[in-house]
Amino acid sequence: MDATDDPRITRLGVEDAAAGLALSTEAHWNQNEDDWRFFLSDGVVFGIRHGAQLLATAALLPYPGDNAWISMVLVTASHRRRGLATRLVDACLATARKRGLTSWLDATPDGAAVYGPLGFTPTLQLRRLKLVKSASTSGQAPSSATFDALRARDRRTTGLDRTALLSAFAQRPGSRIVSASGAIALVRDGRTARHIGPLFADDAAAALTLVDAIARSETGPLLLDAVASQAAFPEALTASGWRIERPFQRMRFGPATAAGEEMPFAVAGPEFG
Ligand SMILES: CC(C)(COP(=O)(O)OP(=O)(O)OC[C@H]1O[C@@H](n2cnc3c(N)ncnc32)[C@H](O)[C@@H]1OP(=O)(O)O)[C@@H](O)C(=O)NCCC(=O)NCCS
Repeated sequence: MDATDDPRITRLGVEDAAAGLALSTEAHWNQNEDDWRFFLSDGVVFGIRHGAQLLATAALLPYPGDNAWISMVLVTASHRRRGLATRLVDACLATARKRGLTSWLDATPDGAAVYGPLGFTPTLQLRRLKLVKSASTSGQAPSSATFDALRARDRRTTGLDRTALLSAFAQRPGSRIVSASGAIALVRDGRTARHIGPLFADDAAAALTLVDAIARSETGPLLLDAVASQAAFPEALTASGWRIERPFQRMRFGPATAAGEEMPFAVAGPEFG
């Protein structure tokens, strides 16, 4: 379908951050306004409006090299099943095609129903896990780690250069980069819960040690998106009080490109990969 068909698709700007946040909040997502500002300044975000109201969005976030992440595919409940998401994702794919990028995304079950027919193929699976914990800390915070250590491990593991993303995360108030037992993770604020990810480790035991140390030193609810094939990790988390909220299916459109050397234990977030 042509991106110029009515209702018109427009490119959104940083001034649309609050309207974008209203859509992701309606879907009970955890993104905050900082996340929207990052997409709107570093990515290409398409939207459909009715008058002043933003009805639908989709974002393409190019990473240096051959890859881009598609995310923030949101349609307000009253305007679903009219083809808006399909048209917006098409607009993202057209932009990716022009720039020679392979597109990736992490789909909710609803989203997967849209992306399959567009030609996306499934790759790995994720599990969104949540820990609702008491408002008190019960242990020492894990040691701080450097931004360079996180960036290098991210690059090696994912095969992506995400310096801009990780640096934006790290500069936000409330963010911390922490490590224990050779594992390293970033923890940042979200709208309703703190988010742990990305998280890299040599094995599940080290990943669990770090998550446990983070959880003991935090006071509010926590989220992480575990890679399902690191099975011992999500299994041990659910045995210790974490609850599976939803699955995500990673999907790819275009040739396989990013060749990471390892598998992360938790990704940066379904919207970032
Ligand atoms: C998922 C979502 C973006 C779909 O938006 P939409 O504008 O309704 O999607 P489309 O109208 O383009 O749907 C295209 C096709 O996808 C399939 N589809 C879309 N939503 C579906 C659902 N909930 N269940 C089953 N199939 C669905 C259908 O085949 C549909 O075609 P049809 O209506 O002719 O049968 C919207 O439901 C939404 O915002 N959900 C909450 C947020 C979310 O999960 N976003 C996806 C993140 S990966």
